[in-house]
Amino acid sequence: MTTPVSGAGDGNGLSIRPAERADLLAVVRIENESFPQPWPYDAFERFLGEPGFLIAVRGGEIAGYAISDVSRTYGRQLGHLKDIAVHPDHRGEGIGTALLRRTLAVLAAHGADSVKLEARRSNEGAKRLYRQFGFEPLRRVPGYYENGEDAIVMIRKLD
Ligand SMILES: CC(C)(COP(=O)(O)OP(=O)(O)OC[C@H]1O[C@@H](n2cnc3c(N)ncnc32)[C@H](O)[C@@H]1OP(=O)(O)O)[C@@H](O)C(=O)NCCC(=O)NCCS
Repeated sequence: MTTPVSGAGDGNGLSIRPAERADLLAVVRIENESFPQPWPYDAFERFLGEPGFLIAVRGGEIAGYAISDVSRTYGRQLGHLKDIAVHPDHRGEGIGTALLRRTLAVLAAHGADSVKLEARRSNEGAKRLYRQFGFEPLRRVPGYYENGEDAIVMIRKLD
């Protein structure tokens, strides 16, 4: 079922819903346009049915997605944003914000007490988005990405 999103994107036909198999080709296309080392199709397929695999639809078209999950780490329920991307033609329209807002709600509903993510050190746009949501840099992971770039791990608590 598609639920309208309040706030960013409201009134512009933006909705966020769980991913379905029929979405995967469009998701992979956006992934390929968004990352130098994109996830392959089967990596997305594995997350079908997971509540944290979310699709943003605008004007009937898939405009972005996010993937997150919750795992028990050192006795805590840690949410992990694993992937988020918006179609290049739809960036700057509030879709990333809407996906992140819904992701945090899903993770909280599934018991996460905090959420972590990794961002490329050079990805200023993404880091800015995360800071707007209260994520703070925790540490740097040297050479985390295949091209040798460092990752910045960011974290925030959930209420
Ligand atoms: C990061 C990404 C998901 C943001 O999605 P989006 O729909 O464009 O984001 P929004 O329109 O909701 O913008 C939210 C905020 O993100 C920040 N932001 C996003 N892109 C930015 C850019 N290119 N430069 C500076 N800030 C940027 C801004 O702070 C912006 O808030 P503002 O408009 O109030 O300044 C999108 O740019 C994307 O898909 N990038 C490629 C994939 C990627 O890098 N994913 C993140 C991996 S860690």
